[in-house]
Amino acid sequence: MMRVSGLIVGFFLTASAAQANDLPPGPIHDTVSTACSQCHSPEVVSSQRKTRAAWADTVNQMMANGATVSDTEFDKVVDYLAKNFPAK
Ligand code: HEC
Repeated sequence: MMRVSGLIVGFFLTASAAQANDLPPGPIHDTVSTACSQCHSPEVVSSQRKTRAAWADTVNQMMANGATVSDTEFDKVVDYLAKNFPAK
């Protein structure tokens, strides 16, 4: 019983940590959170507002820098960024 509630508390702590980074939950959140916070804080990402095309350029650029995003993840990452951080 203690173990189970520990897991639940852990889940909420993880969820609120993600909120603190301003990277909203989503199917590809963990990938973005891991791949995009290796060289700079995730706030560098979440503070930007870009069109989908501009996000695609940025992710391409970051992959050229060395970000580990696979070809299959690329579209999902760009969708996630364009949806959560759209240009106004
Ligand atoms: C290998 C290191 C590295 C990784 C991993 C990385 N970045 Fe970056 N990022 C940089 C560097 C260096 C800069 C500052 C120089 C520049 O603007 O290219 C930067 C700057 C940025 C900027 C601000 C400048 C701009 O173009 O708007 C954004 C947004 C950004 N990164 C997004 C991302 C995203 C999204 C990911 C994950 C897909 C990511 N980064 C992963 C190295 C990295």
